[in-house]
Formats: sequence, structure tokens, C-alpha cells
Amino acid sequence: MGVLDGKVAVIAGGTSGIGARIAERFVEAGACVTIASPFAEEGEALAAKLGPKAQFRRADVADEAEVKALVDGAVSGFGRLDCMVNNAGIAGRFGSVAALDLAQYERTLAVVLRGVVLGTKHAASAMLRQGSGSIVNTGSVAGSRAGYGPYDYSAAKAAVIHFTRCVAMELGEKGVRANSISPGGIVTPIFAKALGLPPEEVGRTFAPLESALAKWHPIPRAGRPDDIAEAALFLASDASSFVNGHDLVVDGGLVAGRSWAAQRAATAELMAALKPGPAR
Ligand SMILES: NC(=O)c1ccc[n+]([C@@H]2O[C@H](COP(=O)([O-])OP(=O)(O)OC[C@H]3O[C@@H](n4cnc5c(N)ncnc54)[C@H](O)[C@@H]3O)[C@@H](O)[C@H]2O)c1
Repeated sequence: MGVLDGKVAVIAGGTSGIGARIAERFVEAGACVTIASPFAEEGEALAAKLGPKAQFRRADVADEAEVKALVDGAVSGFGRLDCMVNNAGIAGRFGSVAALDLAQYERTLAVVLRGVVLGTKHAASAMLRQGSGSIVNTGSVAGSRAGYGPYDYSAAKAAVIHFTRCVAMELGEKGVRANSISPGGIVTPIFAKALGLPPEEVGRTFAPLESALAKWHPIPRAGRPDDIAEAALFLASDASSFVNGHDLVVDGGLVAGRSWAAQRAATAELMAALKPGPAR
């Protein structure tokens, strides 16, 4: 028996990386899932791999009509909607604020923030009708700490976290919960896509990512899609029935502070500077 037996979920941005792993874990846990993204080939292949409990629907989360059709399709196909995971994302673009490309900024906000807002709006409409449901929005450590992403991406993620918190205040009293998950550095294709690498190059980036991201976290390893999928599973399930308006940070301790090794190195440097020595 799975913790999501009988439940119906939609995972927007569910065809790659973190979203694909969430879809796999939800199906393993007993849910029927609709995965969505603009990429039909990738989505159809994943749905086929997941079996009869999964279906793919093409949707761009920045397009309200497509998001509404996505939610309506899940409700009419499966009879209800228990969990909406708004996970779609693109990486944004690094650069000086003085040279900000406004068209790029608006596209990042359209996917990362507007996509979450639209997914939340249409899921809430269905969930309020049935009086239950769990909305899970993907934030980021870049939304609460400066220096972990480009301006467009970081601003959008900060807004996702706070939007989710605000929505939770309204929906909680009506049986619908809303929470976000903020991943640390997770090994996924998002980095290769940001560099414009072709799909056949993505796998090659995983080993160097593992080593580079391990340096970010007080738990000295890269994050894995599984780490986030387990958090999503908890928030989707009844095990989290009293968790609402929370940002579940899954980052090996990054947001909590400086790693023990970095702290020791900095303290040693400080002590060395204070040691008595020849007058300067
Ligand atoms: N990988 C990390 O280190 C990391 C860290 C913090 C947050 N995140 C967030 O996790 C989420 C998943 O990212 P990932 O790392 O798995 O990357 P990914 O590129 O593998 O997955 C992104 C997903 O979003 C989909 N998507 C992109 N544009 C879309 C659109 N317009 N409409 C619908 N779907 C769209 C993609 O098809 C894909 O399924 C994103 O929101 C990302 O910002 C990732």
C-alpha cells in the first residue's frame, strides 16, 4: 500500500530532472499523475516508462489557457485533483544589473513565477470545490539567499516562496494546503540547458556537477532529484496534513550557514592575524 494510493497529481515541469523523479516516486506511491511541459517527445517517453498510471500533457506554464486545460484535463480524466506540483523552471541569465536584459528577465519571470501563480490559481479552483488538496511549489535557496542565482531567477524564486506562504493563509481554512520546497544544488539538466548544450551533452555534465555542487553544502555532496522527490512525497501525502505555508529547505544545510570546514578555516585565519608578533 502506497502513501498516495487513490490520489491524483499534476506535475507541471514534470518531464526532466527533479520533476521527472517526483513523477516516478508519486506513481510508485500509488498516485495517478499527469506530467506536463512543452516538450512532447520527452514527456511521452517518460509517461510510457511510468505505465498506465501516468499521462503526458503538453503545456507551457506561462500560458493561462494551457494551464487551465492541464488542470481541467486531470480533473475530468481522473475525477479529482489531490496534489499540484508547480515545478517548471528555467535558469535565468547571469550578468550585471546595469546590463539587465528586460526581455530575458520577463521570460524567466513568466516561467518561474507566473507559471507557479497560474498553476496555483487553477489547482486552487479545483481543490476548493472538493474541499481538499495540497499545492507544492518549487522555490530555491536562491530565493532566500543572495549569491546563488541570476537576478531574474532569484527574484522570481523569492516571490514563489512568499506567494505560496500568502496563498496558504487563505486556503488552509478551506482544507487546501500550500507549501514550497527550496532545493540546494541538485544534479539535473538545468545547468546544461542554461549553457545551451544539446540534449546528448547533458549526461556528460553530471559528474563535474557532482563535484562542483558538493562544495556548496555543509553536507559535502551534491543534491539529487531523489532528495527533492522525497520532500514532495511528504508534502503531497496525508503525513503532512498540518504543514501549511512552509518552505521546506532541502539543501544539506546551505541556507543554515557556513560549513564547519569553512568556519574553521576562517577562524584559523582570524586567530593567525591576532597572534602577537613583531610590531607593525
Ligand atoms: N537543479 C537545481 O540545482 C535546482 C535548485 C533549486 C531549484 N531548482 C528548481 O527545480 C525545478 C526543476 O528544475 P530541474 O533542476 O529539475 O531542471 P530541469 O531543466 O531538468 O527541469 C525543468 C522542468 O521544467 C520544464 N519547463 C521548462 N519551461 C517550461 C514551461 N514554459 N512550461 C512548462 N514546463 C517547463 C522542463 O521541461 C522540465 O521538465 C525548477 O523550478 C528549478 O528552478 C533546481
